[in-house]
Amino acid sequence: MYAAHFNLAATPFSLTPDTRFYVGLPQHEAALAVLNTALNAGEGFIKVTGEVGTGKTLLCRLLLKQAPADWQLAYLPDPSVSPSELRWALAAELGLKYSANIDASQLLQLLQRQLILLAQSGKKIVLVIDEAQALPDDTLETVRLLTNLETERRKLLQVVLFGQPELDQRLASQQFRQLRQRISFAYKLPVMSPAQIRFYVRHRLQTAGATPALFNRFALLAINRYSRGIPRLVNLLAHKGLMLAYGEGKSRVTGRHIRFAAQDTEDTRRSAAHYLWLLAGAAVFSAACFAWVLR
Ligand SMILES: Nc1ncnc2c1ncn2[C@@H]1O[C@H](COP(=O)(O)OP(=O)(O)O)[C@@H](O)[C@H]1O
Ligand SMILES: [Mg+2]
Repeated sequence: MYAAHFNLAATPFSLTPDTRFYVGLPQHEAALAVLNTALNAGEGFIKVTGEVGTGKTLLCRLLLKQAPADWQLAYLPDPSVSPSELRWALAAELGLKYSANIDASQLLQLLQRQLILLAQSGKKIVLVIDEAQALPDDTLETVRLLTNLETERRKLLQVVLFGQPELDQRLASQQFRQLRQRISFAYKLPVMSPAQIRFYVRHRLQTAGATPALFNRFALLAINRYSRGIPRLVNLLAHKGLMLAYGEGKSRVTGRHIRFAAQDTEDTRRSAAHYLWLLAGAAVFSAACFAWVLR
């Protein structure tokens, strides 16, 4: 809606993880490098964790997009499935043709055969699971068992787990110690530094055909403060900032627009004034308690 007003070829801060807008930040580049190295080395399990909104789904999509021709990737975007649903989903992703009335053990046999066939034709088969923290316990165990399938020379199935930090808490339990020990490559996505946030905003603006000066210095400072370095929050704030500036007929987004945007955005850091009020309230309360005790 504001694209014409600001002379934009596309919406620069959409919430969908669109690979055309990828900004090669060091953390995302490092994650991709870890994934490539580990997958090329034939590692069974690779894990990438990060807070909500730090770019995990975008990395999944980049991995799928950049995969060499001899990789066969199976993508599971929503892992809240039962073990048998997981096996059916994997079969479908691997292009397996089967009749609907086969049972679980027949399916497993077919899967195994398909994995061997693909491996023989020189394919590296990778199961990519997004939101892995939501995998039910028994499904997580099924994933581990599937990676036990191997030829004499190598694993038939490699697995990449993308998940929120809760995934680590789940893996820390005694029940998953076998799986935990098999994860030899892991990467934790950090949030963006202030300099990275500036680079990120400018880069996305340029990709959308805008001048980087569309956000003034104070707008960038405010984005830095309220986003906590989380890309999704940066997008939300920047998008709302653009809407507010457009609504006022302004040609630039300022700090005021972003502060306004932060007020109705869940999860953005409250202003310093808010904390000052809280502090003042606590001081008054303690003073009152003190006075009451000394009475
Ligand atoms: N390096 C990056 N370059 C461009 N956009 C990014 C980058 N990292 C994150 N984003 C954007 O931030 C938003 C949240 O990313 P997403 O992958 O959905 O996070 P997660 O899956 O970790 O919750 C998306 O709009 C995504 O495009
Ligand atoms: Mg995601």
